[in-house]
Amino acid sequence: MKSLALFTTFCAMQLTTVLVNGEAINRRHLGKRAVPLSATGAASTSSGSLPTPTAIVATGSAAALSSTGTPGTVAGTGTTPTPVVAGTPPAATGTDIPALTLISSGMPTRTARAAATTYAPGAQPPISGAPKLPTLVTAVSLPTASYPAENVVPDTNSPQVQQWMKELDGFNIPDLKPTVDGSCASDPQFAADSANRGWWTCGGVTRDTDIVACPDKFTWGVSFDDGPSPYSDLSGTAAPYVLDFLQQKNLSATFFVVGSRILERPQILVQEYMAGHEISVHTWSHSKPLTSLTNAELVAELGWTRQIIKDVIGVTPTTMRPPWGDIDDRVRAVSMAMGMIPVIWTRSPSGSTFDTNDWKVAGGQGTAADSFNTFQTILSQASQMETGFVVLEHDLFEVTVDIAIGYTLNAALNNNPKFNLEAIGQCQKFPAANMYLETNTNKTFPFPKNNATGANGSGSAAGSNSGGNNGKSGALRTLGLEQTKVVGVAVLVLTLALSMFA
Ligand SMILES: *[C@@H]1O[C@H](CO)[C@@H](O)[C@H](O)[C@H]1NC(C)=O
Ligand SMILES: *[C@@H]1O[C@H](CO)[C@@H](O)[C@H](O)[C@H]1NC(C)=O
Ligand SMILES: *[C@@H]1O[C@H](CO)[C@@H](O)[C@H](O)[C@H]1NC(C)=O
Ligand SMILES: *[C@@H]1O[C@H](CO)[C@@H](O)[C@H](O)[C@H]1NC(C)=O
Ligand SMILES: [Zn+2]
Repeated sequence: MKSLALFTTFCAMQLTTVLVNGEAINRRHLGKRAVPLSATGAASTSSGSLPTPTAIVATGSAAALSSTGTPGTVAGTGTTPTPVVAGTPPAATGTDIPALTLISSGMPTRTARAAATTYAPGAQPPISGAPKLPTLVTAVSLPTASYPAENVVPDTNSPQVQQWMKELDGFNIPDLKPTVDGSCASDPQFAADSANRGWWTCGGVTRDTDIVACPDKFTWGVSFDDGPSPYSDLSGTAAPYVLDFLQQKNLSATFFVVGSRILERPQILVQEYMAGHEISVHTWSHSKPLTSLTNAELVAELGWTRQIIKDVIGVTPTTMRPPWGDIDDRVRAVSMAMGMIPVIWTRSPSGSTFDTNDWKVAGGQGTAADSFNTFQTILSQASQMETGFVVLEHDLFEVTVDIAIGYTLNAALNNNPKFNLEAIGQCQKFPAANMYLETNTNKTFPFPKNNATGANGSGSAAGSNSGGNNGKSGALRTLGLEQTKVVGVAVLVLTLALSMFA
Protein backbone atom coordinates (compact mmCIF):
# COMPACT_ATOMS: atom_id res chain seq x y z
CA MET A 1 0.00 0.00 0.00
CA LYS A 2 2.88 2.30 0.65
CA SER A 3 4.05 2.15 -2.91
CA LEU A 4 0.49 2.55 -4.05
CA ALA A 5 0.21 5.72 -2.05
CA LEU A 6 3.33 7.00 -3.73
CA PHE A 7 1.70 6.31 -7.00
CA THR A 8 -1.35 8.38 -6.18
CA THR A 9 -0.13 11.67 -7.47
CA PHE A 10 0.90 10.27 -10.79
CA CYS A 11 -2.34 8.44 -11.15
CA ALA A 12 -4.32 11.58 -10.51
CA MET A 13 -2.37 13.39 -13.17
CA GLN A 14 -2.53 10.64 -15.68
CA LEU A 15 -6.17 9.83 -15.19
CA THR A 16 -7.01 13.48 -15.38
CA THR A 17 -5.47 13.55 -18.79
CA VAL A 18 -7.40 10.53 -19.84
CA LEU A 19 -10.71 11.42 -18.30
CA VAL A 20 -11.14 15.11 -18.26
CA ASN A 21 -10.02 15.74 -21.73
CA GLY A 22 -11.00 12.93 -23.99
CA GLU A 23 -9.48 14.95 -26.77
CA ALA A 24 -6.14 14.76 -25.08
CA ILE A 25 -5.98 11.08 -25.80
CA ASN A 26 -6.63 11.63 -29.45
CA ARG A 27 -4.02 14.31 -29.64
CA ARG A 28 -1.51 12.07 -27.95
CA HIS A 29 -2.28 9.43 -30.48
CA LEU A 30 -1.78 11.76 -33.35
CA GLY A 31 1.80 12.38 -32.37
CA LYS A 32 4.28 10.10 -34.04
CA ARG A 33 6.72 8.29 -31.89
CA ALA A 34 9.94 10.18 -31.59
CA VAL A 35 11.86 6.99 -31.04
CA PRO A 36 12.52 3.98 -33.23
CA LEU A 37 9.86 1.34 -32.88
CA SER A 38 12.11 -1.58 -33.53
CA ALA A 39 12.06 -4.14 -30.77
CA THR A 40 15.48 -5.41 -31.55
CA GLY A 41 17.23 -3.20 -29.07
CA ALA A 42 15.57 -4.93 -26.19
CA ALA A 43 17.94 -7.80 -25.90
CA SER A 44 21.00 -5.85 -25.01
CA THR A 45 19.92 -4.55 -21.65
CA SER A 46 18.12 -7.28 -19.84
CA SER A 47 20.60 -10.06 -19.98
CA GLY A 48 21.21 -9.99 -16.26
CA SER A 49 20.73 -13.07 -14.18
CA LEU A 50 17.30 -14.04 -13.08
CA PRO A 51 16.60 -13.27 -9.45
CA THR A 52 16.57 -16.34 -7.28
CA PRO A 53 13.00 -17.52 -7.20
CA THR A 54 11.29 -17.76 -3.88
CA ALA A 55 10.08 -21.25 -3.21
CA ILE A 56 6.41 -21.51 -3.81
CA VAL A 57 4.18 -23.51 -1.59
CA ALA A 58 2.09 -25.88 -3.57
CA THR A 59 -0.95 -26.70 -1.54
CA GLY A 60 -2.54 -28.81 -4.15
CA SER A 61 -5.58 -26.61 -4.12
CA ALA A 62 -6.26 -23.47 -6.04
CA ALA A 63 -5.25 -21.38 -3.08
CA ALA A 64 -1.61 -20.52 -2.61
CA LEU A 65 -2.27 -19.92 1.06
CA SER A 66 -4.39 -21.76 3.49
CA SER A 67 -7.50 -20.09 4.77
CA THR A 68 -5.79 -19.28 8.01
CA GLY A 69 -3.37 -16.97 6.31
CA THR A 70 -0.37 -19.02 7.25
CA PRO A 71 1.70 -20.62 4.57
CA GLY A 72 0.79 -24.17 3.80
CA THR A 73 3.26 -26.98 3.96
CA VAL A 74 5.93 -27.22 1.37
CA ALA A 75 5.08 -29.79 -1.19
CA GLY A 76 7.43 -32.71 -0.95
CA THR A 77 6.15 -34.53 -3.94
CA GLY A 78 9.50 -34.83 -5.62
CA THR A 79 8.32 -32.90 -8.62
CA THR A 80 11.32 -31.45 -10.32
CA PRO A 81 10.84 -27.75 -10.85
CA THR A 82 11.25 -26.76 -14.44
CA PRO A 83 13.46 -23.72 -14.64
CA VAL A 84 12.40 -20.85 -16.76
CA VAL A 85 15.06 -19.79 -19.19
CA ALA A 86 16.51 -16.57 -17.92
CA GLY A 87 18.15 -13.82 -19.81
CA THR A 88 17.12 -11.83 -22.78
CA PRO A 89 13.50 -10.94 -23.20
CA PRO A 90 11.97 -12.14 -26.42
CA ALA A 91 11.60 -9.61 -29.17
CA ALA A 92 8.22 -8.03 -29.36
CA THR A 93 6.12 -9.51 -32.09
CA GLY A 94 4.16 -6.42 -32.97
CA THR A 95 5.58 -4.03 -35.47
CA ASP A 96 4.88 -1.03 -33.29
CA ILE A 97 5.99 -2.20 -29.86
CA PRO A 98 9.01 -0.25 -28.62
CA ALA A 99 12.11 -1.91 -27.28
CA LEU A 100 11.82 -2.68 -23.59
CA THR A 101 14.37 -0.02 -22.75
CA LEU A 102 12.29 2.61 -24.48
CA ILE A 103 9.06 1.88 -22.63
CA SER A 104 8.64 4.53 -19.96
CA SER A 105 6.04 6.84 -18.54
CA GLY A 106 7.21 9.70 -20.73
CA MET A 107 7.34 7.80 -23.98
CA PRO A 108 5.66 9.18 -27.05
CA THR A 109 2.44 7.47 -27.92
CA ARG A 110 1.44 5.52 -30.94
CA THR A 111 0.06 6.90 -34.14
CA ALA A 112 -3.67 7.26 -34.61
CA ARG A 113 -5.45 4.08 -35.47
CA ALA A 114 -8.34 2.94 -37.58
CA ALA A 115 -11.83 3.14 -36.15
CA ALA A 116 -12.82 0.33 -33.88
CA THR A 117 -15.03 -2.50 -34.96
CA THR A 118 -18.62 -1.87 -34.04
CA TYR A 119 -21.50 -4.22 -33.44
CA ALA A 120 -25.17 -3.73 -34.13
CA PRO A 121 -27.90 -4.06 -31.54
CA GLY A 122 -29.38 -7.51 -31.80
CA ALA A 123 -26.07 -9.16 -32.69
CA GLN A 124 -25.62 -12.55 -31.06
CA PRO A 125 -22.78 -12.75 -28.52
CA PRO A 126 -20.48 -15.78 -28.64
CA ILE A 127 -21.81 -17.23 -25.41
CA SER A 128 -24.52 -19.79 -25.86
CA GLY A 129 -27.89 -18.55 -24.66
CA ALA A 130 -26.72 -14.98 -24.11
CA PRO A 131 -29.22 -12.19 -24.73
CA LYS A 132 -28.72 -10.33 -28.00
CA LEU A 133 -26.76 -7.09 -27.76
CA PRO A 134 -28.89 -4.24 -26.41
CA THR A 135 -29.38 -0.92 -28.19
CA LEU A 136 -26.73 0.80 -26.12
CA VAL A 137 -23.95 -1.07 -27.91
CA THR A 138 -23.96 1.59 -30.58
CA ALA A 139 -23.59 4.43 -28.09
CA VAL A 140 -20.30 6.22 -28.51
CA SER A 141 -20.85 7.45 -24.99
CA LEU A 142 -23.49 6.69 -22.41
CA PRO A 143 -25.96 9.12 -20.83
CA THR A 144 -23.86 10.26 -17.93
CA ALA A 145 -26.90 11.59 -16.08
CA SER A 146 -28.16 8.04 -15.70
CA TYR A 147 -25.09 6.99 -13.79
CA PRO A 148 -23.16 8.15 -10.74
CA ALA A 149 -20.31 10.63 -11.09
CA GLU A 150 -17.08 9.08 -12.24
CA ASN A 151 -14.25 8.14 -9.91
CA VAL A 152 -16.05 8.65 -6.62
CA VAL A 153 -17.98 6.18 -4.49
CA PRO A 154 -21.59 6.41 -5.70
CA ASP A 155 -24.34 7.87 -3.53
CA THR A 156 -25.74 5.20 -1.26
CA ASN A 157 -29.14 6.90 -0.94
CA SER A 158 -30.11 6.44 -4.56
CA PRO A 159 -33.14 4.24 -5.24
CA GLN A 160 -30.94 1.82 -7.13
CA VAL A 161 -28.53 1.26 -4.26
CA GLN A 162 -31.41 1.02 -1.79
CA GLN A 163 -32.91 -1.69 -3.98
CA TRP A 164 -29.63 -3.59 -4.32
CA MET A 165 -29.16 -3.49 -0.55
CA LYS A 166 -32.05 -5.93 -0.30
CA GLU A 167 -29.85 -8.55 -1.91
CA LEU A 168 -27.93 -8.73 1.36
CA ASP A 169 -31.07 -9.71 3.30
CA GLY A 170 -30.78 -13.14 4.77
CA PHE A 171 -27.02 -13.25 4.37
CA ASN A 172 -24.77 -13.18 7.35
CA ILE A 173 -22.53 -10.25 6.52
CA PRO A 174 -19.76 -10.19 9.15
CA ASP A 175 -19.90 -7.13 11.34
CA LEU A 176 -16.34 -5.98 10.66
CA LYS A 177 -15.55 -2.32 11.11
CA PRO A 178 -14.30 -0.76 7.87
CA THR A 179 -10.55 -0.22 7.72
CA VAL A 180 -9.11 3.31 7.68
CA ASP A 181 -7.66 3.10 4.18
CA GLY A 182 -7.15 -0.56 3.37
CA SER A 183 -3.53 -0.50 4.49
CA CYS A 184 -2.04 -2.67 7.23
CA ALA A 185 -0.08 0.28 8.61
CA SER A 186 -3.18 2.35 9.31
CA ASP A 187 -4.94 -0.48 11.14
CA PRO A 188 -2.31 -2.42 13.07
CA GLN A 189 -4.91 -4.14 15.24
CA PHE A 190 -6.92 -5.31 12.29
CA ALA A 191 -3.71 -6.35 10.56
CA ALA A 192 -2.76 -8.46 13.57
CA ASP A 193 -6.20 -10.06 13.38
CA SER A 194 -6.12 -10.51 9.62
CA ALA A 195 -6.48 -14.29 9.80
CA ASN A 196 -9.82 -13.90 11.59
CA ARG A 197 -10.94 -11.08 9.35
CA GLY A 198 -9.90 -12.92 6.21
CA TRP A 199 -7.98 -9.80 5.17
CA TRP A 200 -5.89 -10.53 2.07
CA THR A 201 -3.95 -7.28 2.14
CA CYS A 202 -2.24 -8.12 5.43
CA GLY A 203 -0.80 -11.60 5.20
CA GLY A 204 -2.50 -12.80 2.07
CA VAL A 205 -5.42 -14.46 3.80
CA THR A 206 -7.71 -16.23 1.36
CA ARG A 207 -10.90 -18.27 1.72
CA ASP A 208 -11.95 -21.32 -0.21
CA THR A 209 -14.40 -19.26 -2.20
CA ASP A 210 -11.67 -16.98 -3.60
CA ILE A 211 -10.12 -17.63 -6.98
CA VAL A 212 -6.39 -16.96 -6.66
CA ALA A 213 -4.85 -19.35 -9.18
CA CYS A 214 -5.64 -21.76 -11.98
CA PRO A 215 -5.84 -25.41 -10.94
CA ASP A 216 -3.60 -26.84 -13.67
CA LYS A 217 0.17 -26.54 -13.53
CA PHE A 218 1.76 -24.32 -16.19
CA THR A 219 -1.53 -22.57 -16.78
CA TRP A 220 -1.71 -18.79 -16.51
CA GLY A 221 -5.09 -17.18 -16.01
CA VAL A 222 -4.53 -13.95 -17.94
CA SER A 223 -6.27 -10.75 -16.92
CA PHE A 224 -6.19 -7.02 -17.56
CA ASP A 225 -7.43 -4.54 -14.97
CA ASP A 226 -8.80 -1.00 -14.88
CA GLY A 227 -10.03 -0.59 -18.46
CA PRO A 228 -11.72 -0.27 -20.84
CA SER A 229 -9.01 2.02 -22.13
CA PRO A 230 -7.93 3.22 -25.56
CA TYR A 231 -5.15 0.64 -25.33
CA SER A 232 -7.53 -2.27 -24.85
CA ASP A 233 -8.85 -1.46 -28.27
CA LEU A 234 -9.14 -3.63 -31.33
CA SER A 235 -7.35 -1.46 -33.83
CA GLY A 236 -7.63 -3.42 -37.02
CA THR A 237 -4.65 -2.83 -39.23
CA ALA A 238 -2.90 -0.18 -37.14
CA ALA A 239 -0.70 -0.55 -34.07
CA PRO A 240 -1.69 -3.62 -32.08
CA TYR A 241 -3.24 -3.24 -28.68
CA VAL A 242 -4.53 -5.83 -26.27
CA LEU A 243 -7.45 -7.14 -28.28
CA ASP A 244 -5.38 -7.37 -31.46
CA PHE A 245 -2.69 -9.35 -29.71
CA LEU A 246 -5.13 -11.76 -28.12
CA GLN A 247 -6.82 -12.27 -31.48
CA GLN A 248 -3.51 -12.88 -33.25
CA LYS A 249 -2.55 -15.47 -30.66
CA ASN A 250 -6.03 -16.99 -30.39
CA LEU A 251 -6.12 -16.32 -26.65
CA SER A 252 -8.85 -15.38 -24.22
CA ALA A 253 -8.35 -13.17 -21.19
CA THR A 254 -10.40 -11.77 -18.34
CA PHE A 255 -11.04 -8.03 -18.25
CA PHE A 256 -11.68 -6.57 -14.80
CA VAL A 257 -13.48 -3.43 -15.83
CA VAL A 258 -14.17 -0.19 -13.98
CA GLY A 259 -17.65 1.31 -14.32
CA SER A 260 -16.34 4.85 -14.69
CA ARG A 261 -14.20 3.76 -17.63
CA ILE A 262 -17.11 1.94 -19.27
CA LEU A 263 -19.08 5.16 -19.09
CA GLU A 264 -16.45 6.73 -21.34
CA ARG A 265 -15.74 3.82 -23.66
CA PRO A 266 -18.66 1.43 -23.84
CA GLN A 267 -17.73 0.23 -27.31
CA ILE A 268 -14.45 -1.18 -26.12
CA LEU A 269 -16.32 -3.25 -23.54
CA VAL A 270 -18.49 -4.54 -26.37
CA GLN A 271 -15.40 -5.51 -28.37
CA GLU A 272 -13.95 -7.39 -25.43
CA TYR A 273 -17.17 -9.29 -24.82
CA MET A 274 -17.89 -10.04 -28.48
CA ALA A 275 -14.35 -11.35 -28.96
CA GLY A 276 -15.13 -14.00 -26.35
CA HIS A 277 -13.15 -12.55 -23.46
CA GLU A 278 -14.50 -12.70 -19.93
CA ILE A 279 -15.89 -9.55 -18.36
CA SER A 280 -15.66 -9.12 -14.60
CA VAL A 281 -16.53 -6.36 -12.12
CA HIS A 282 -13.73 -4.14 -10.77
CA THR A 283 -15.82 -1.46 -8.98
CA TRP A 284 -17.40 1.76 -10.15
CA SER A 285 -14.86 4.33 -8.96
CA HIS A 286 -11.68 2.41 -8.15
CA SER A 287 -11.13 5.25 -5.70
CA LYS A 288 -10.91 3.52 -2.33
CA PRO A 289 -9.94 0.06 -1.10
CA LEU A 290 -13.10 -1.99 -0.54
CA THR A 291 -12.35 -2.90 3.10
CA SER A 292 -12.55 0.82 3.93
CA LEU A 293 -16.12 1.14 2.66
CA THR A 294 -19.44 0.61 4.44
CA ASN A 295 -21.71 -2.19 3.30
CA ALA A 296 -23.89 0.29 1.43
CA GLU A 297 -20.86 1.79 -0.29
CA LEU A 298 -19.74 -1.70 -1.31
CA VAL A 299 -23.15 -2.39 -2.75
CA ALA A 300 -23.02 0.91 -4.63
CA GLU A 301 -19.53 0.24 -6.06
CA LEU A 302 -20.34 -3.30 -7.16
CA GLY A 303 -23.96 -2.66 -8.08
CA TRP A 304 -23.32 0.25 -10.44
CA THR A 305 -20.51 -1.58 -12.22
CA ARG A 306 -22.72 -4.62 -12.65
CA GLN A 307 -25.48 -2.34 -13.90
CA ILE A 308 -23.47 -0.51 -16.55
CA ILE A 309 -22.05 -3.78 -17.85
CA LYS A 310 -25.56 -5.18 -18.12
CA ASP A 311 -26.79 -2.02 -19.88
CA VAL A 312 -24.02 -2.16 -22.48
CA ILE A 313 -23.56 -5.86 -23.22
CA GLY A 314 -26.72 -7.37 -21.75
CA VAL A 315 -25.15 -9.64 -19.16
CA THR A 316 -24.16 -9.48 -15.49
CA PRO A 317 -20.80 -10.90 -14.38
CA THR A 318 -20.70 -13.58 -11.67
CA THR A 319 -17.14 -12.62 -10.68
CA MET A 320 -15.39 -9.54 -9.34
CA ARG A 321 -11.89 -8.41 -8.40
CA PRO A 322 -11.30 -6.02 -5.49
CA PRO A 323 -8.96 -3.14 -6.41
CA TRP A 324 -5.49 -3.74 -4.91
CA GLY A 325 -6.77 -7.16 -3.89
CA ASP A 326 -8.13 -5.49 -0.77
CA ILE A 327 -10.73 -7.91 0.54
CA ASP A 328 -11.86 -9.26 3.89
CA ASP A 329 -14.73 -11.50 5.00
CA ARG A 330 -17.21 -8.62 5.00
CA VAL A 331 -16.34 -7.58 1.45
CA ARG A 332 -16.46 -11.24 0.40
CA ALA A 333 -19.88 -11.76 1.94
CA VAL A 334 -21.34 -8.64 0.29
CA SER A 335 -19.85 -9.64 -3.04
CA MET A 336 -21.11 -13.20 -2.80
CA ALA A 337 -24.56 -12.07 -1.67
CA MET A 338 -24.65 -9.99 -4.85
CA GLY A 339 -23.73 -13.08 -6.85
CA MET A 340 -20.07 -12.37 -7.54
CA ILE A 341 -17.12 -14.64 -6.73
CA PRO A 342 -13.96 -12.76 -5.69
CA VAL A 343 -10.92 -13.22 -7.93
CA ILE A 344 -7.53 -12.02 -6.70
CA TRP A 345 -4.08 -13.04 -7.94
CA THR A 346 -1.50 -15.54 -6.84
CA ARG A 347 0.63 -14.74 -3.84
CA SER A 348 3.72 -16.56 -2.68
CA PRO A 349 4.10 -17.58 0.97
CA SER A 350 6.92 -15.09 1.32
CA GLY A 351 4.37 -12.38 0.73
CA SER A 352 5.38 -11.46 -2.78
CA THR A 353 2.39 -11.26 -5.04
CA PHE A 354 2.24 -12.16 -8.69
CA ASP A 355 2.13 -8.48 -9.56
CA THR A 356 4.15 -7.44 -12.61
CA ASN A 357 4.44 -3.93 -11.15
CA ASP A 358 3.61 -2.66 -14.61
CA TRP A 359 1.72 0.18 -12.89
CA LYS A 360 5.01 1.41 -11.45
CA VAL A 361 6.34 1.90 -14.95
CA ALA A 362 3.28 3.90 -15.87
CA GLY A 363 3.90 5.94 -12.73
CA GLY A 364 7.54 6.60 -13.52
CA GLN A 365 8.66 4.58 -10.51
CA GLY A 366 10.27 1.68 -12.25
CA THR A 367 11.55 0.67 -15.62
CA ALA A 368 9.96 -1.69 -18.05
CA ALA A 369 13.03 -3.89 -17.61
CA ASP A 370 12.31 -4.01 -13.86
CA SER A 371 8.76 -5.06 -14.57
CA PHE A 372 9.86 -7.69 -17.05
CA ASN A 373 12.42 -9.07 -14.60
CA THR A 374 9.67 -9.25 -12.00
CA PHE A 375 7.60 -11.17 -14.46
CA GLN A 376 10.44 -13.58 -15.18
CA THR A 377 10.64 -14.25 -11.46
CA ILE A 378 6.92 -14.90 -11.45
CA LEU A 379 7.28 -17.41 -14.29
CA SER A 380 10.16 -19.05 -12.51
CA GLN A 381 8.13 -19.37 -9.32
CA ALA A 382 5.11 -20.52 -11.26
CA SER A 383 7.10 -23.29 -12.89
CA GLN A 384 7.73 -24.72 -9.42
CA MET A 385 4.11 -24.64 -8.33
CA GLU A 386 1.78 -27.59 -8.38
CA THR A 387 -0.98 -25.37 -9.66
CA GLY A 388 -1.31 -22.70 -12.28
CA PHE A 389 -1.42 -19.04 -11.42
CA VAL A 390 -2.97 -15.63 -11.91
CA VAL A 391 -0.95 -12.44 -12.50
CA LEU A 392 -1.82 -8.77 -12.10
CA GLU A 393 -1.47 -6.70 -15.29
CA HIS A 394 -3.24 -3.59 -16.53
CA ASP A 395 -4.63 -2.20 -19.75
CA LEU A 396 -5.29 1.37 -18.60
CA PHE A 397 -2.01 2.82 -19.85
CA GLU A 398 -0.09 2.37 -23.06
CA VAL A 399 3.13 1.42 -21.32
CA THR A 400 1.49 -1.39 -19.37
CA VAL A 401 -0.09 -2.66 -22.56
CA ASP A 402 3.24 -2.53 -24.39
CA ILE A 403 4.91 -4.53 -21.63
CA ALA A 404 2.16 -7.13 -21.75
CA ILE A 405 1.70 -7.60 -25.49
CA GLY A 406 5.34 -6.97 -26.36
CA TYR A 407 7.01 -8.97 -23.64
CA THR A 408 5.30 -10.79 -20.78
CA LEU A 409 2.72 -12.72 -22.76
CA ASN A 410 5.33 -13.74 -25.34
CA ALA A 411 7.75 -14.81 -22.62
CA ALA A 412 5.16 -17.25 -21.29
CA LEU A 413 4.19 -18.47 -24.75
CA ASN A 414 7.82 -18.93 -25.78
CA ASN A 415 8.91 -20.62 -22.58
CA ASN A 416 9.93 -24.24 -22.70
CA PRO A 417 7.69 -25.83 -21.68
CA LYS A 418 5.12 -23.41 -22.98
CA PHE A 419 2.68 -21.92 -20.51
CA ASN A 420 -0.96 -22.38 -21.32
CA LEU A 421 -2.68 -18.98 -21.37
CA GLU A 422 -6.40 -18.85 -20.63
CA ALA A 423 -9.02 -16.53 -19.23
CA ILE A 424 -9.49 -17.04 -15.51
CA GLY A 425 -12.96 -18.61 -15.62
CA GLN A 426 -11.77 -20.80 -18.48
CA CYS A 427 -8.78 -22.05 -16.51
CA GLN A 428 -11.13 -22.87 -13.60
CA LYS A 429 -12.99 -25.02 -16.16
CA PHE A 430 -16.15 -23.04 -15.55
CA PRO A 431 -18.50 -23.33 -18.52
CA ALA A 432 -18.49 -19.97 -20.33
CA ALA A 433 -22.18 -19.58 -19.50
CA ASN A 434 -21.38 -19.54 -15.78
CA MET A 435 -19.56 -16.25 -16.13
CA TYR A 436 -22.85 -14.30 -16.38
CA LEU A 437 -26.05 -14.37 -14.41
CA GLU A 438 -28.23 -14.41 -17.52
CA THR A 439 -26.52 -17.40 -19.10
CA ASN A 440 -25.65 -19.44 -16.04
CA THR A 441 -27.91 -22.46 -15.70
CA ASN A 442 -26.15 -24.09 -12.77
CA LYS A 443 -28.25 -23.33 -9.69
CA THR A 444 -25.37 -24.18 -7.37
CA PHE A 445 -22.91 -21.86 -9.09
CA PRO A 446 -21.14 -19.93 -7.68
CA PHE A 447 -22.51 -21.47 -4.49
CA PRO A 448 -25.68 -23.23 -3.47
CA LYS A 449 -28.58 -20.86 -3.76
CA ASN A 450 -29.19 -18.86 -0.62
CA ASN A 451 -25.99 -20.08 0.86
CA ALA A 452 -22.93 -17.91 0.46
CA THR A 453 -20.07 -17.80 2.91
CA GLY A 454 -22.02 -17.56 6.12
CA ALA A 455 -25.28 -17.17 4.30
CA ASN A 456 -28.27 -17.38 6.52
CA GLY A 457 -31.84 -17.40 5.46
CA SER A 458 -33.37 -16.57 2.10
CA GLY A 459 -31.11 -14.12 0.40
CA SER A 460 -31.14 -13.72 -3.34
CA ALA A 461 -28.01 -15.45 -4.40
CA ALA A 462 -26.68 -15.85 -7.90
CA GLY A 463 -28.82 -18.20 -9.87
CA SER A 464 -31.96 -16.62 -8.53
CA ASN A 465 -31.94 -14.31 -11.52
CA SER A 466 -32.50 -11.24 -9.45
CA GLY A 467 -29.18 -9.47 -9.34
CA GLY A 468 -28.28 -6.67 -11.67
CA ASN A 469 -31.58 -6.62 -13.42
CA ASN A 470 -34.01 -4.21 -11.93
CA GLY A 471 -35.45 -2.13 -14.67
CA LYS A 472 -32.75 0.51 -14.59
CA SER A 473 -32.34 0.33 -18.31
CA GLY A 474 -35.83 1.79 -18.69
CA ALA A 475 -34.61 4.98 -17.11
CA LEU A 476 -31.72 4.98 -19.51
CA ARG A 477 -33.93 4.86 -22.53
CA THR A 478 -35.87 7.91 -21.45
CA LEU A 479 -32.75 10.03 -21.28
CA GLY A 480 -31.19 10.83 -24.60
CA LEU A 481 -27.62 10.03 -25.33
CA GLU A 482 -26.58 13.60 -24.90
CA GLN A 483 -23.24 13.55 -23.19
CA THR A 484 -22.57 16.08 -20.53
CA LYS A 485 -19.33 16.07 -18.69
CA VAL A 486 -20.43 17.63 -15.47
CA VAL A 487 -17.39 16.88 -13.41
CA GLY A 488 -15.12 19.86 -13.25
CA VAL A 489 -11.41 19.50 -13.56
CA ALA A 490 -10.73 20.74 -10.07
CA VAL A 491 -13.19 18.38 -8.48
CA LEU A 492 -11.82 15.52 -10.46
CA VAL A 493 -8.26 16.23 -9.54
CA LEU A 494 -9.26 16.29 -5.90
CA THR A 495 -11.13 13.05 -6.09
CA LEU A 496 -8.41 11.42 -8.09
CA ALA A 497 -5.91 12.39 -5.48
CA LEU A 498 -7.55 9.55 -3.60
CA SER A 499 -7.23 7.29 -6.54
CA MET A 500 -4.74 4.51 -6.62
CA PHE A 501 -4.02 1.99 -9.28
CA ALA A 502 -4.04 -1.77 -9.06
C1 LIG B 1 -8.19 -21.27 -30.96
O1 LIG B 1 -8.31 -21.79 -29.65
C2 LIG B 1 -9.40 -22.67 -29.48
C3 LIG B 1 -9.41 -23.11 -28.03
O2 LIG B 1 -9.37 -22.05 -27.16
C4 LIG B 1 -9.29 -23.84 -30.40
O3 LIG B 1 -10.44 -24.67 -30.26
C5 LIG B 1 -9.15 -23.38 -31.83
O4 LIG B 1 -8.92 -24.49 -32.65
C6 LIG B 1 -8.00 -22.41 -31.96
N1 LIG B 1 -7.95 -21.89 -33.30
C7 LIG B 1 -6.82 -21.81 -33.97
C8 LIG B 1 -6.92 -21.24 -35.35
O5 LIG B 1 -5.78 -22.16 -33.50
C1 LIG C 1 -22.41 -26.40 -10.67
O1 LIG C 1 -21.48 -25.57 -9.97
C2 LIG C 1 -20.88 -26.22 -8.87
C3 LIG C 1 -19.96 -25.19 -8.23
O2 LIG C 1 -20.70 -24.20 -7.63
C4 LIG C 1 -20.11 -27.42 -9.32
O3 LIG C 1 -19.57 -28.07 -8.18
C5 LIG C 1 -21.03 -28.37 -10.05
O4 LIG C 1 -20.29 -29.44 -10.58
C6 LIG C 1 -21.73 -27.64 -11.17
N1 LIG C 1 -22.71 -28.52 -11.77
C7 LIG C 1 -22.73 -28.75 -13.08
C8 LIG C 1 -23.82 -29.65 -13.56
O5 LIG C 1 -21.93 -28.28 -13.84
C1 LIG D 1 -24.01 -23.73 3.32
O1 LIG D 1 -22.72 -23.19 3.49
C2 LIG D 1 -22.01 -23.76 4.58
C3 LIG D 1 -20.72 -23.02 4.71
O2 LIG D 1 -20.10 -22.83 3.48
C4 LIG D 1 -21.83 -25.26 4.31
O3 LIG D 1 -21.14 -25.83 5.39
C5 LIG D 1 -23.17 -25.90 4.15
O4 LIG D 1 -23.01 -27.26 3.82
C6 LIG D 1 -23.99 -25.20 3.07
N1 LIG D 1 -25.33 -25.75 3.05
C7 LIG D 1 -25.89 -26.15 1.95
C8 LIG D 1 -27.30 -26.61 2.05
O5 LIG D 1 -25.33 -26.15 0.87
C1 LIG E 1 -29.28 -16.13 11.13
O1 LIG E 1 -30.16 -15.03 11.21
C2 LIG E 1 -30.81 -14.90 12.45
C3 LIG E 1 -31.83 -13.78 12.34
O2 LIG E 1 -31.37 -12.74 11.54
C4 LIG E 1 -29.76 -14.65 13.53
O3 LIG E 1 -30.36 -14.53 14.79
C5 LIG E 1 -28.77 -15.80 13.54
O4 LIG E 1 -27.75 -15.54 14.44
C6 LIG E 1 -28.19 -16.03 12.16
N1 LIG E 1 -27.39 -17.22 12.18
C7 LIG E 1 -26.19 -17.26 11.65
C8 LIG E 1 -25.49 -18.55 11.71
O5 LIG E 1 -25.67 -16.30 11.12
ZN1 LIG F 1 -7.44 -2.06 -10.41
